[in-house]
Amino acid sequence: MRTRPLKVALLGCGVVGSEVARIMTTHADDLAARIGAPVELAGVAVRRPSKVREGIDPALITTDATALVKRGDIDVVIEVIGGIEPARTLITTAFEHGAGVVSANKALLAEDGSALHAVAEQHGRDLYYEAAVAGAIPLVRPLRESLAGDKVNRVLGIVNGTTNFILDRMDTSGAGYSEALDEATALGYAEADPTADVEGFDAAAKAAILAGIAFHTRVRIGEVHREGITEVTAADIASARRMGCTVKLLAICERAADGRSVTARVHPAMIPLSHPLASVREAYNAVFVESEAAGQLMFYGPGAGGAPTASAVLGDLVAVCRNILAGTTGPGESAYTRLPVSPMGDVVTRYHISLDVADKPGVLAQVATVFAEQDVSIDTVRQQVRQDGSGEASLVVVTHRAPDAALSGTVEALRKLDTVRGVASIMRVEGE
Ligand code: NDP
Ligand code: HSE
Repeated sequence: MRTRPLKVALLGCGVVGSEVARIMTTHADDLAARIGAPVELAGVAVRRPSKVREGIDPALITTDATALVKRGDIDVVIEVIGGIEPARTLITTAFEHGAGVVSANKALLAEDGSALHAVAEQHGRDLYYEAAVAGAIPLVRPLRESLAGDKVNRVLGIVNGTTNFILDRMDTSGAGYSEALDEATALGYAEADPTADVEGFDAAAKAAILAGIAFHTRVRIGEVHREGITEVTAADIASARRMGCTVKLLAICERAADGRSVTARVHPAMIPLSHPLASVREAYNAVFVESEAAGQLMFYGPGAGGAPTASAVLGDLVAVCRNILAGTTGPGESAYTRLPVSPMGDVVTRYHISLDVADKPGVLAQVATVFAEQDVSIDTVRQQVRQDGSGEASLVVVTHRAPDAALSGTVEALRKLDTVRGVASIMRVEGE
């Protein structure tokens, strides 16, 4: 074993970084044995230097992350700051100064992954990011390496722990949205700005990364259709229950049937309670990968939190260190198919639409006509007359599969009917 240590710069020492530092220290001997050389924490960049950081030598702490990555003796930079800047410049600088990079930063990779891969390649360095998607779950490496000989057609799953935690709490314990979000934040699952979680940006970033790797193309976060969970109400969850379903925030990436394009989307959806994703609780994530030869694979595990995410970061650290010792690099970007990303309107899906309507003759026929005009076939209709004397009824329509554009056209036309007092909720139905 080489005695001279490989030097690691840790950028960020928050929820994830502090766990990375802890495991690097407590498992130092095992890591050295697995890598073939000791790894030494050579510096830790943070924003607030005076904060007490248990188990970390205060002499390693710096607020000058740029100087740390420019030192010249750093072999690997671990970026767990998050956000676009200064993370992007720091990673680029790290490559320019000869270091390999491990990052958990999905926001950055979904925005600028291709450019970062290009700089890594130009300098003959590694860029690894297992922790950027689904926390501890090995998913990036299986897609980049294990399934490199197969053809992946679909990736579908729950990739945001915070929103799954919130929806799970709302469903099973009747907790309110804000209360559940506060709990997820306190447990270290949420992003620095939890809007990224609840508005679906975090899941959209992960969907972009997954679609890019799975289909060997480039998908940027802006090309992912995104809806968050802020509009999901207790009534939606109760309505899902009545249908034998639950509500989950899903990320769905698909190759078109003709193979000429892909779609990537993130939105809440009702899924049957019998579907394996329905039993994914708390901050767990689960992802199905469907490929031509392997068939259906399911990846399941903790999707967020300090220690689980650090596990993925350290796996990457070992891989990058081994590559350095072997004088090689791991797989770079594979985006040779250059498939276009189709708009959401082309996606074929099912809708659950809940309407408040006037309770009088002919209303059901009017509503049914709107669906027929948009060529959307109705699967089930349930009507319940209000007992509050309002003269209104609640009408729940579930459609067969139809293009999303036709479904949203239907909702738009329904809103214009005098007899439709309001559209209480619209949700897609998946997993049947
Ligand atoms: P935190 O907010 O807990 O930690 C961020 C760290 O970065 C802090 O230590 C902070 O310093 C430091 N920092 C912020 N700005 C700077 C700067 N300009 N220079 C140097 N250091 C800086 O975030 P997390 O640990 O939760 O997340 C880190 C990354 O990991 C993000 O990309 C996130 O998306 C990703 N991730 C997080 C997961 C999770 O469950 N939390 C799961 C998977 C990925 P200070 O401590 O002084 O404030
Ligand atoms: N905020 C993210 C989540 C962290 O809740 O899933 C893991 O990427």
